[in-house]
Amino acid sequence: MGVEWRLKEERKGLETPIIVINVKAYAESIGQNGLKLAKICEEVASERGVSIAICPQQVFLAQVASSVSIPCFAQHADAVPPGSFTGFVTLEAVKEAGAVGTLLNHSEHRLKIADIEFLVSRAASLGLLTIVCTNNVRVSRAVAALKPYSVAVEPPELIGTGRAVSKVDPAVVSDTVKAVKEIHEECVVLCGAGITNGEDVRAAIELGADGVLLASGVVKAEDPKKALLDLVSGI
Ligand code: G3P
Repeated sequence: MGVEWRLKEERKGLETPIIVINVKAYAESIGQNGLKLAKICEEVASERGVSIAICPQQVFLAQVASSVSIPCFAQHADAVPPGSFTGFVTLEAVKEAGAVGTLLNHSEHRLKIADIEFLVSRAASLGLLTIVCTNNVRVSRAVAALKPYSVAVEPPELIGTGRAVSKVDPAVVSDTVKAVKEIHEECVVLCGAGITNGEDVRAAIELGADGVLLASGVVKAEDPKKALLDLVSGI
């Protein structure tokens, strides 16, 4: 079975535009709460016929991936092969846990460029998808050269503020789309930071993004399903 075949199969549920929910390490996404959030994402994806993927907390990745049909991504992986590395998370373990891929280089969990290169290339050989986070257009351009599945641009100063990048800093979104697609045409470009409602999502898509990456807008919402339905209305 070739890598190409597996990648195509694994892209089921990853049609763009896509909403990717990173539940981070919030108390609201630990254990059963995280599973509940994943089930809500699954429900909304199926009711509205949209692509929603989730990045569960690492400890619960296997549990969530085996309980929902939507694609799951790890929140991080370490640049090491399986071996004597206490506490590290390998790509092989991410795959075994049932994830379709992993986020890398989140601004809360930065990596060195050489590590990103190692991880993107090893993930591809394992049939795993990589969503590499970046903080600006220049870094997005550098990462695009590594040919990941996706680049997700997130200005750190807007993360968790409720001030949507697609409205507050539209140029970083449109310029990243342009820069990334010039280098790696089929790359899925996401934007994130402060995205909380359907209008924010619509603005992102109008700027050329293939989807959004968000956390607090759903995880910290009083009613996560209502928040997700609102977000999806922007697609
Ligand atoms: O990974 C998504 C994240 O960094 C954006 O966070 O809370 O602004 O949606 P938030």
